[in-house]
Amino acid sequence: MGMVLGILGSGSGSNMQAILDAIDSGTLDARISIVLSDHSDAFILERARQRGIATGVIDCRGFKTRFPEEAQQETAMQLKAAGVELVCLAGFLRLVKRPLLDAFPQRILNIHPSLLPAFPGLESWKQALAAGASEAGCTVHFVDEGMDTGPIILQESVPILADDTAESLHARIQVLEHRLYPAAIRNLS
Ligand code: GRF
Repeated sequence: MGMVLGILGSGSGSNMQAILDAIDSGTLDARISIVLSDHSDAFILERARQRGIATGVIDCRGFKTRFPEEAQQETAMQLKAAGVELVCLAGFLRLVKRPLLDAFPQRILNIHPSLLPAFPGLESWKQALAAGASEAGCTVHFVDEGMDTGPIILQESVPILADDTAESLHARIQVLEHRLYPAAIRNLS
């Protein structure tokens, strides 16, 4: 029965919710076996608990943005123990490096709210607005050692409208994200 997914997230988990919705509606043949977060109070963990999905907190040893090597090792072990075949970063705000990448070669995905390679990094919809771009979008890609680099799996654009605010543009991109992430996972199974 379907691919076994592990999710890493730092925030609200709306992308994970979209993956769960696709599984529930029968359009994605997969199962989420574990959800891990670097923030113990992240809503993504609450969503997972409500569904009876195993959760865990990644101990980043007090580092604000780094993902320490020991924490990556522990994360890899937890994912493996949960039988995870594909790791999905869903709003996970730390850079994944070795040893986690080595534990899941070509099996870690990320979703990023821009038309990569344009506007990597944080709040990319604001970057697109500030640059006066005519369109924005969203990209699902394999994770490598760079920040929002790595081979692209799926990408789609949305227009930037004259009266867009950061909030209205982000909302339009999120609708797209929620459709694109399950579709990209489906492509890999
Ligand atoms: C999304 O905008 C995603 O593209 C970015 O972080 C946000 C996560 O949102 N990487 P959520 O936690 O899935 O709601």
